[in-house]
Amino acid sequence: MSFSGWFFFIFSLSLFAPVPISSSSEGVSNIAAEFLNYAKKGEVFDWIKSIRRKIHEHPELGYEEFETSKLIRTELDKMGISYKYPVAVTGVLGFIGTGKPPFVALRADMDALPLQEMVEWEHKSKIPGKMHACGHDAHVAMLLGAAKILQEHREDLQGTVVLVFQPAEEGGGGAKKLVEAGVLENVKAIFGLHVYPDLNEGKVSSTSGPLLAASGFFEAVISGKGGHAAIPQHSIDPILAASNVIVSLQHLVSREADPLDSQVVTIAKFQGGGAFNVIPDSVTIGGTFRAFSKKSILQLKQRIEEVIIGQAAVQRCNATVNFHGNEKPFYPATVNDEGLHEYFQDVAGDMLGVLNVKDMQPLMGSEDFSFYQEVIPGYFFFLGMKNETKGELASGHSPFFKINEDVLPIGAALHASLAARYLLQTQADTSTLNVKRHDEL
Ligand SMILES: *[C@@H]1O[C@H](CO)[C@@H](O)[C@H](O)[C@H]1NC(C)=O
Ligand SMILES: *[C@@H]1O[C@H](CO)[C@@H](O)[C@H](O)[C@H]1NC(C)=O
Ligand SMILES: [Zn+2]
Ligand SMILES: [Zn+2]
Repeated sequence: MSFSGWFFFIFSLSLFAPVPISSSSEGVSNIAAEFLNYAKKGEVFDWIKSIRRKIHEHPELGYEEFETSKLIRTELDKMGISYKYPVAVTGVLGFIGTGKPPFVALRADMDALPLQEMVEWEHKSKIPGKMHACGHDAHVAMLLGAAKILQEHREDLQGTVVLVFQPAEEGGGGAKKLVEAGVLENVKAIFGLHVYPDLNEGKVSSTSGPLLAASGFFEAVISGKGGHAAIPQHSIDPILAASNVIVSLQHLVSREADPLDSQVVTIAKFQGGGAFNVIPDSVTIGGTFRAFSKKSILQLKQRIEEVIIGQAAVQRCNATVNFHGNEKPFYPATVNDEGLHEYFQDVAGDMLGVLNVKDMQPLMGSEDFSFYQEVIPGYFFFLGMKNETKGELASGHSPFFKINEDVLPIGAALHASLAARYLLQTQADTSTLNVKRHDEL
């Protein structure tokens, strides 16, 4: 039976019975399997893989994703999918379906990392010092895969799917800029995924409520007075002051935070001095801090500044602290909507089997997907890639990071099913409501 056949069958049932379309209805639950079969078809799978490899060879950093964005637009053009560009420098918004409400969004991030790839393979990064080491190349390819599936079934879509190709996830807060540009206006829900090397192929995992932490970055310059290393009394040593600052910063989580409220302060950068016998003028340190609540993250921010300045002063040094709010905005916590969690479990369970839909412990990592979730209900989940018979996978942000490309059709089909079924269910629930058209169209 075709997808539209199911819909009209179920929809007409729902006209006579006062029950909403339930995901246990046989027709709706077959959508996931049908989409997965389509995505696994040789030519579709090969096409998704080839897009991922092209992007992998040409990684671009946040807000510089010009070629990636062009490739996306070229593919959307070929499929006859309309889009809006540019949004937030390199972002692309695609639209599939009726052009009318309800609207549901799917998001992929496009940026790479400033890392030299160490994996030797045919499609290794051609740009020295830049690499897709977080899998965003795969995310873009899977969203284009979803676009193909949805466009193929566009006649059956009961509303509009908004494809969000987002710049600058890695610290740049591209999601924040897209929200400010109004991309979520009239959109009812948004879904996003991330490839995950620690979870088996064929499995997905996430949770309801807080999933990833809020995060901020800081950098501090601790200034003393340089001089001869053998005559310390004529200098003010910023190396020792910075060392004490770092030790004091470690007391924030251990002594000031509630042990049941997870938080992290990590100093990841320490730069100072260049010779064995010279005390330098200054030292630069930097790092990140994480917490789940807004209150805790703001408390950490305030105390980090106080501790750096106060502890530097103990050793007669001056310090300035910069939180880089413009280039690296604070990311809120990624908090999944409870209703969407149940919905996701139904859709993913229908596609992969309920035993392959895992519950996940929250992580202290962070994601700018959280900016969307501050505005509308959103759901973020992880797509497993581990398969020992295909070799070990390195963790994200490693120069040895690899993608298990066999999961690409799963991600594409999940995206497409989440959107298509969401529209069917929302349309059935609100068919009597008169909702405004999306401003973008
Ligand atoms: C792991 O890969 C092998 C082939 O390389 C495949 O037969 C197997 O189904 C994969 N395992 C899972 C869980 O997908
Ligand atoms: C710290 O700042 C004060 C006031 O500007 C200045 O007088 C002092 O020399 C500075 N100390 C160091 C070690 O830079
Ligand atoms: Zn990353
Ligand atoms: Zn990432």
